[in-house]
Amino acid sequence: MYTAAENRYESMPYRRCGNSGLKLPAISFGLWHNFGDDTPHATKRAMCQTAFDLGITHFDLANNYGPPPGSAETAFGEILKSDFKPYRDEMIISSKAGYDMWGGPYGEWGSRKYLIASCDQSLKRMGLDYVDIFYSHRFDPETPLEETMMALDHIVRSGRALYVGISSYNTQRTREAHAILKELGTPCLIHQPSYNILNRWVETDGLKDALSELGMGSIAFVPLAQGLLTNKYLNGIPAGSRAAQDKSLHPSVVEKAIESVKKLNEMAQARGQTLAQMAIAWVLRGGGITSALIGASKPSQIVDCVGAINNLDFTPAELATIDAISEEKSINLWAKSSE
Ligand SMILES: NC(=O)c1ccc[n+]([C@@H]2O[C@H](COP(=O)([O-])OP(=O)(O)OC[C@H]3O[C@@H](n4cnc5c(N)ncnc54)[C@H](OP(=O)(O)O)[C@@H]3O)[C@@H](O)[C@H]2O)c1
Repeated sequence: MYTAAENRYESMPYRRCGNSGLKLPAISFGLWHNFGDDTPHATKRAMCQTAFDLGITHFDLANNYGPPPGSAETAFGEILKSDFKPYRDEMIISSKAGYDMWGGPYGEWGSRKYLIASCDQSLKRMGLDYVDIFYSHRFDPETPLEETMMALDHIVRSGRALYVGISSYNTQRTREAHAILKELGTPCLIHQPSYNILNRWVETDGLKDALSELGMGSIAFVPLAQGLLTNKYLNGIPAGSRAAQDKSLHPSVVEKAIESVKKLNEMAQARGQTLAQMAIAWVLRGGGITSALIGASKPSQIVDCVGAINNLDFTPAELATIDAISEEKSINLWAKSSE
């Protein structure tokens, strides 16, 4: 029987999500990797418990997380039932639909048919009456944006979600989606873009500025560049790591970036932080991003990452050095979706 740590709200900062009434933890936890059938249930459970004990109230999922697709939501549903039932009202649980989920013409992208059916499937897998945030996972170039946004509006009005968001939409599409949802009377709460020291498209595209202007919140996924911005790959590619498994991080990406990563690691050491902590602090610097959305393969990584909150400040000289290093390398696996 799990009992949450009594001191869980003592250190984590909770930051307002845009102009909304909702606050998110500075660090949120995502279940993209290491929550499928290839990971022992005890490890998944331990990670969720560690996260919650450290004040991480926000857990991010999607219909297709696994493998196989859907299994992360099923596993999370079991953990909710066994451990988190008394804490449901202390949690922000999100899911998404947009990527390939089932066969035929209604199993991906942004139609009303797909989004509503997928949301119902996600709720069933997790054993929930509603999710706190439901996202359009990617912009659909073939479906009218009005249809996708009307589906999100319906998902809120029918009680399936409390808030809605969009992921990997570029600045122009974000402005359009925001305007349609505003007209419909369901605010666009949040944008979920990829963002880290080696991937700064949200700055060059103007998205970060647009989100502040629109009063939308933001949650940056892959703040650690899938583990590249940690001490994990400094001495090669360790067995069992994401790059060794060649899941979504190709070893060539590690090779391309490792010299820059080593320079960043030296800076983190000089700041008295681990590289993971510095990478998260950098994403959160200045308050422009509401939350950094990390992943993990073991509980100790979550403990390390949450240590980032002890030093979120950077000197101008540190920022300039990071800028110079970011310019050398640029890795954005999600560029296509935001084109
Ligand atoms: N909206 C979208 O399209 C989209 C796309 C991708 C992700 N996301 C969301 O973002 C979440 C995070 O993605 P991500 O897992 O790629 O993010 P990430 O935080 O950049 O990378 C997580 C990986 O870094 C390594 N790691 C984490 N902490 C570490 C530490 N302290 N020391 C050493 N290594 C550490 C682990 O790699 P190993 O597994 O190798 O140990 C872990 O699996 C996902 O779960 C999902 O919720 C959304």
